[in-house]
Amino acid sequence: MTYGFIGSGTITEAMVAGLMASPPAVPKIVVSPRNAEVAARLAARYSKVEVAPSNQAVVDAAGVLVLAIRPQIAKEVLEEISIPQGRKVISVIAATSHEKLAVWTGQDPDAIVRAIPLPFVADREGVTALYPPDAEAEKLFGALGSAVVCESKDEFNLLAAISSMMATYFGIMERTTEWLAGKGMSKSKARNYLTPLFGSLTHVASRSAESSFGELRQAFSTRGGLNEQLFKDFDELGGTAAMTRALDRVLERIRA
Ligand SMILES: NC(=O)c1ccc[n+]([C@@H]2O[C@H](COP(=O)([O-])OP(=O)(O)OC[C@H]3O[C@@H](n4cnc5c(N)ncnc54)[C@H](OP(=O)(O)O)[C@@H]3O)[C@@H](O)[C@H]2O)c1
Repeated sequence: MTYGFIGSGTITEAMVAGLMASPPAVPKIVVSPRNAEVAARLAARYSKVEVAPSNQAVVDAAGVLVLAIRPQIAKEVLEEISIPQGRKVISVIAATSHEKLAVWTGQDPDAIVRAIPLPFVADREGVTALYPPDAEAEKLFGALGSAVVCESKDEFNLLAAISSMMATYFGIMERTTEWLAGKGMSKSKARNYLTPLFGSLTHVASRSAESSFGELRQAFSTRGGLNEQLFKDFDELGGTAAMTRALDRVLERIRA
């Protein structure tokens, strides 16, 4: 089976790196000629990756087609190519519905799989939400970490919304580092402390599947102590409200 990618950008490079890590998870990959630099780099790095002369040549070569272009140009790019009926089409294009993709590709909307790969797929550590359930897509994203199969479009949209927490995670680290720096600490020392602190908390959550996050928060809060005080302040001073409002706004944009 040959896998074809339309759009050779950041997420394609990450997926191809993950798929071609040793041992390769797929026999052959064909990528579109744009972006020329990324496509050439992938072909130079992996013997099983080829650059096709055009987007149509990618379609013609691939049994599974991955659409990885920006939403702004999706209509133009997809209307220019002809995808035979029955070809497996997996779209990672953000905030672009099955219905729009079906019109632009001439495919049945129920046959198109949408997925949200994250950059960690490059190291086969990505958790990828997908909808609808599909054996081929589950195999692909399973090889790149793990696949979370959504039962409905609503569920898929919720995970799409929550995946936009990545920048805020680093934003919290950025702001707390700035706070420490403002009190006179070097940013490198702040980073050397914060990174393992957050990493250890993630490990605890992974190891404690039986505990809810609320239970973990309580387990890490001495009664009357500093952790309890900080979360109470965060909650009462508007932190939770701001995050909830921000997630609602992202979800509105995704559903539009
Ligand atoms: N990056 C992520 O972590 C991530 C995760 C999940 C989903 N996504 C989604 O995946 C899609 C791609 O994101 P990205 O971050 O990889 O963006 P990107 O780095 O900008 O990649 C998009 C690629 O499409 C190429 N392109 C432009 N016009 C084209 C055409 N006519 N035919 C074929 N390719 C063309 C661009 O080439 P030029 O540079 O030559 O213009 C660029 O290399 C987006 O819809 C994004 O929302 C991204």
